[in-house]
Amino acid sequence: MDISELAKLLRCPSCEDGPILVAGDHLVCAKCAREYPVRDGIPDMLPQEAPETVEGLGVAPEQTPEIEPLDQQELKILVIHGPNLNMLGVREPDIYGAVTLERIDDILQHEARALGVRLTTVQSNHEGDIVTAVQSAADGYAGLVINPGAYTHTSIAIRDALAAVRCPKVEVHLSNIHAREEFRKISVTGGAVSGIISGFGADSYLLGLQAAVRLARKAK
Ligand code: DQA
Repeated sequence: MDISELAKLLRCPSCEDGPILVAGDHLVCAKCAREYPVRDGIPDMLPQEAPETVEGLGVAPEQTPEIEPLDQQELKILVIHGPNLNMLGVREPDIYGAVTLERIDDILQHEARALGVRLTTVQSNHEGDIVTAVQSAADGYAGLVINPGAYTHTSIAIRDALAAVRCPKVEVHLSNIHAREEFRKISVTGGAVSGIISGFGADSYLLGLQAAVRLARKAK
């Protein structure tokens, strides 16, 4: 069975009922943000320890003493990457840059720790899975950052899902969608979010996370 099909059948053993999403090469609970590795296509659902360092950034815990341990962080933020964003780094680098999605997620996790929030990141190429991920934000998330990719311009289903979720939502785009082809200038999803950040490359995600946390703290 495909891992994304299997994930739909699983529930988080750590918080007991959280839905499980595919996040790159591992699984993650959409409710409590626990991560579960996948080895040879088989998920290891035993609860994992939180990582001690941010991989790739070379940040050791003793260098960041001001950052609270995960357990004491209150706000949960969900980042959803839409279709083809798993191809960042090799996909049209002149438009989207050379940075990979894995690197963007590392940078976002580092920023989340600095901001004192707990971050879950997921990527999907499938509209229905993105709808499900958006809906999962109702499970205690204080904010949502979404790059709906090409679904930005077409998906009423994702727009409706966004409209149904009450937390602050920030839409982000690496490229400036208003400076590109006519069909990209319309954001169908944009009317259902708090605001849009577009055109700052990978920094759009960083700015989007900061905006979502600011809005979430104001809404508390
Ligand atoms: C994008 C812009 C969309 O038009 C495109 O389909 C993408 C990426 C961006 O981040 O610039 O996949 O959302």
